[in-house]
Amino acid sequence: MKIIFATGNQNKMREIREILADFSDEILSMKEAGLSPEIVEDGETFDENALIKARAVYREQFRLTGERALVLADDSGLEIDALGGAPGVYSARFMGEDTPYDIKNAALIEKLADTPREERTARFRCAIAAVLPGGDELLTDASVEGLIAYEPSGANGFGYDPILFYPPRGCTLACLTDDEKNAVSHRGKALRKMRELLADKLYLLK
Ligand code: IMP
Repeated sequence: MKIIFATGNQNKMREIREILADFSDEILSMKEAGLSPEIVEDGETFDENALIKARAVYREQFRLTGERALVLADDSGLEIDALGGAPGVYSARFMGEDTPYDIKNAALIEKLADTPREERTARFRCAIAAVLPGGDELLTDASVEGLIAYEPSGANGFGYDPILFYPPRGCTLACLTDDEKNAVSHRGKALRKMRELLADKLYLLK
């Protein structure tokens, strides 16, 4: 079954393809599907933004091809408790979309300069929305808990991975391989929940 994932982020596509590999061998990004709908991510929660993206891509795909596809979208971000949950749904826009992550990461660490270890709690959160070919909608979400590190470390992953220290492994998420991260990450867990829901809903093999 053809799945269109409403993102242009190649890092996310790599993770998504790995997790849904045995579910579909045709997982296209919006760009690969030739779609570029205007998407205004003005939701106040990850759930709302994931649904906004999935609905926009579903409508555009139908408008352009007359085909109803299975469309998935995610919205994710970093919540830092000491900053009242910021950057949260603004994670991508924090300090500007085009600002390199080493600068964003350094700025967040600086904001927590006087914050003791026990108050450095933070998490990545992810919501996954699906619009099924018949128009039904599904939502899942998950998080991965950690602490904001005192300095960035690790060369894998992307975005804020180098500053989310993951206590069970004693290193940041950027120290984990792709497979190790997928096994514990917010996106990995939310996608696997979605995979289960889709399998039940579409009577596919799990
Ligand atoms: P979205 O594309 O609107 O979901 O924005 C997600 C934002 O959160 C981007 O700034 C990402 O860099 C950040 N983010 C989401 N998931 C991760 C992750 O797994 N690692 C690092 N940063 C992430």
